Amino acid sequence: MNALQHVRLGTYYVAQLPEQDDFEFWRDRARALVQCDVPPDRIAWVPPGGNGDLFTHGERRAPVPPADAAMVRASKPFIQLARSAICHSDPDRFALLYRLLWRHQANPKVLEDRADGDVRRLDELARHVRRDIHKMRAFVRFRLVEDEAAQGGESEEHYVAWFEPEHHILRANAGFFTRRFANMRWSILTPKGSLHWDTQALAEGPPAERADAPAGDPVEALWRKYYASTFNPARLKVGAMLKEMPRKYWKNMPETSLIPELVAGAQAREAAMVDAGSIEPSERPDTLDAIASAIHSCRRCPIGELENQAVMGEGPRRAALMVVGEQPGDQEDLAGKPFVGPAGQVLDRFLQQAGIDREQTYVTNAVKHFKFTQRGKRRLHQSPTAKEIDICRWWLEGERALVQPRLVLALGASAARGLLGKTVSISRVRGAAQMLEDGSELWVTAHPSYLLRLEGPAREEQERLFAADLAAVAERLAELAQ
Ligand code: URA
Repeated sequence: MNALQHVRLGTYYVAQLPEQDDFEFWRDRARALVQCDVPPDRIAWVPPGGNGDLFTHGERRAPVPPADAAMVRASKPFIQLARSAICHSDPDRFALLYRLLWRHQANPKVLEDRADGDVRRLDELARHVRRDIHKMRAFVRFRLVEDEAAQGGESEEHYVAWFEPEHHILRANAGFFTRRFANMRWSILTPKGSLHWDTQALAEGPPAERADAPAGDPVEALWRKYYASTFNPARLKVGAMLKEMPRKYWKNMPETSLIPELVAGAQAREAAMVDAGSIEPSERPDTLDAIASAIHSCRRCPIGELENQAVMGEGPRRAALMVVGEQPGDQEDLAGKPFVGPAGQVLDRFLQQAGIDREQTYVTNAVKHFKFTQRGKRRLHQSPTAKEIDICRWWLEGERALVQPRLVLALGASAARGLLGKTVSISRVRGAAQMLEDGSELWVTAHPSYLLRLEGPAREEQERLFAADLAAVAERLAELAQ
């Protein structure tokens, strides 16, 4: 049946969705409907729990596309936006997505028209969902409800959090929480469903009520203490704080009970800090701990939007040598520490060979979040763009200003860009020092992952050069220490 016949016969389809956020189901149905030439106004998209029977003339079976049906076109950006937008709580989202898919077949450039109402709405829905996802990551607070260890059993602490998302983002956030709190037994209860993690497997549960979650526990005191100690009155901007942490989330966050008091005392504390000379002219966090906590919520570039955690540099606060890599890899992201995976092992081996003690070295990255593309279960490394590296320089500069290394070793071109603000060729700059603006010396060498990608004589040659670069750095460090 073609579009005209659908209209003439008054046929329409009822597509009842099994889940609020089931993109795959929507995509399969939408694909078949496009292939059967069913126009958008002939479909009733019914959310779960909605009454599809209201559409008494609707055809409830999925239409079967003809064998010679043309492929349905959908661009990657559309799929990406649609995956986010489907989690929105707007009941019209399924129809909007179908309308855009339908229009895309006739005009593949439809998404480029920023003035188009449907395109603007799609962007808006996806943005709301991303924001909700981030809010949940930042504002979920677990409370301890059970400690069977106290009754003589295995340690079975169970943490429960209550959260009220605006959209259907629970599943989209599940991977983040299982990775971040892998060794904890936890449940996240929300009015839209719940998640339960027992350190091995994740289970989904029904919607919950606020009363199902515990009201308070000893962990709260720790949160409050932590918040009070990281609160910097000199950086207080009430408007920005409310934007980032809207009041509606406060009731589930123990530390927020301190906010009125801290805000009230901020002016006096700031004046005291100025007097004591402890305020830096910039607004960058002024301790390594404060940078470590700030980078977690950094969304200055899109890498922070992925399912990852920020990885802070590691090492002595006043290390003479700072080693800078590109970005955390898969294993670094899981561990929350730099250079602990295969590239880290190569680095450790060559540092040791050169007589450089990693324990005495501050090791960090030009980009603080892991950039990847998901392939099935694997997360494949993607290089950061020059722009992303430049944006993340803000944090690297903060670490350099605090650690004040005498010598900085950049591993690879991304690290060199993070330090110099421009792209250089490794083969041209390696083997000699450059002066950085703060008077420290920059040495550039290859990235250990580059060595790992080579084989045979090419690998041997690069390993020889890498070892020579590290030996030169060790020698220079010894000179500077005299
Ligand atoms: N590669 C990097 O550049 N940094 C790491 O931390 C790990 C691998």
